[in-house]
Amino acid sequence: MADHTPLLFKPVKFRSVEARNRIVVSPMCQYSADNGLGNDWHIQNLGARAAGGAGIVFTEATHVSAAGRITPHCLGLWNDEQETFMTRLAAVIARSGAVPAIQIAHAGRKASTTAPWIQGSGFLTPDEPEGWLPVAPSAVAFSPERPAPHELSVGDIQGIIADFAATAARARRAGFKIAELHGAHGYLIHEFLSPISNLRTDQYGGDLTGRTRMLNETIKAVRAVWGDDLPLFVRLSCTDWMEGGLTGDDAVQICKMLAERGDVDLIDASTGGIAPAQKIPSIHPGYQVPFAERIRNEAGIPTGAVGMIREADHAAEIIANRRADLVFLARAMIADPHWPLRAAQRLGVKLDWPPQYLRGEGAF
Ligand SMILES: Cc1cc2nc3c(=O)[nH]c(=O)nc-3n(C[C@H](O)[C@H](O)[C@H](O)COP(=O)(O)O)c2cc1C
Repeated sequence: MADHTPLLFKPVKFRSVEARNRIVVSPMCQYSADNGLGNDWHIQNLGARAAGGAGIVFTEATHVSAAGRITPHCLGLWNDEQETFMTRLAAVIARSGAVPAIQIAHAGRKASTTAPWIQGSGFLTPDEPEGWLPVAPSAVAFSPERPAPHELSVGDIQGIIADFAATAARARRAGFKIAELHGAHGYLIHEFLSPISNLRTDQYGGDLTGRTRMLNETIKAVRAVWGDDLPLFVRLSCTDWMEGGLTGDDAVQICKMLAERGDVDLIDASTGGIAPAQKIPSIHPGYQVPFAERIRNEAGIPTGAVGMIREADHAAEIIANRRADLVFLARAMIADPHWPLRAAQRLGVKLDWPPQYLRGEGAF
């Protein structure tokens, strides 16, 4: 009998890791940790989404150091207590058959801010009780109201690369099976890549080769401890949506370089976030998919599509037409942790529901 299962619901393998389908819970900050340490909120949040049937479940941006956090309440993985917590979190995700995945991040000049639901300026100065001075490739603030960040020395940069590797080593020990470097949304790695935020004249700035040096060295250091058996993804902002910023052509060039080196298994193709002056022409369902499609075709590396993918048919179309290898969903997964189970029903796919939930199968 012909197999009519949409590709979206077929397993997919990266290195030694197989996911049961191509639906990914995209990284989503919860601003609910203390001193980088997660708690029951993080467990129930990702546990529910793993039980909802996604193939891969990502942690929120998990930071390599206290200074690298977006807010004082972001998740981190730089000490033993955090590693113990993350071991439990990875196990909870795996318990429901999803692949536990971790996004590893440093916020750069967008550090020392507040959770979106806190009223106020949105950022904390170093004089405020929980604030600190962010670091960046160049001493240029994200916006004029913010203090100028500390410009990183070459030694500082090497220290941060070592922090990325140390977090990756802890993530591996904790049981995560996919690591993703956060190179998007105006955070540190993206700040090195973009000419808007990187004005350096040394080996970490200048042309695209200089601006990708920090990313390349981070990938190399992370791969060395992460091992060759486990997949490594990179999330990129594939355009800055700004005059003088990164373009889709630059992103293709960066991805060709990454594809040639062979350490990265997938590009998670996002956009934007480098500066408030960005102008996104139109935000509509799938508006970032063309970047995933172009990189997949032109750079010859698997991609993930993300951004306003909400409908099952849309997700299935992206995968069926080979526009991307994975679909990453964020807000739709907040609205419905069981999005994958619901999408399967809509597409006529018989999924194995968790036995504890079988009596709910007909209740959508
Ligand atoms: C609450 C929330 C938190 C987010 N936190 C992160 C994050 O930690 N790392 C990241 O790369 N993107 C983050 N994002 C962006 C999402 O991963 C995703 O790229 C974006 O929301 C677009 O997808 P969507 O239209 O499916 O929501 C966040 C989005 C939301 C809604």
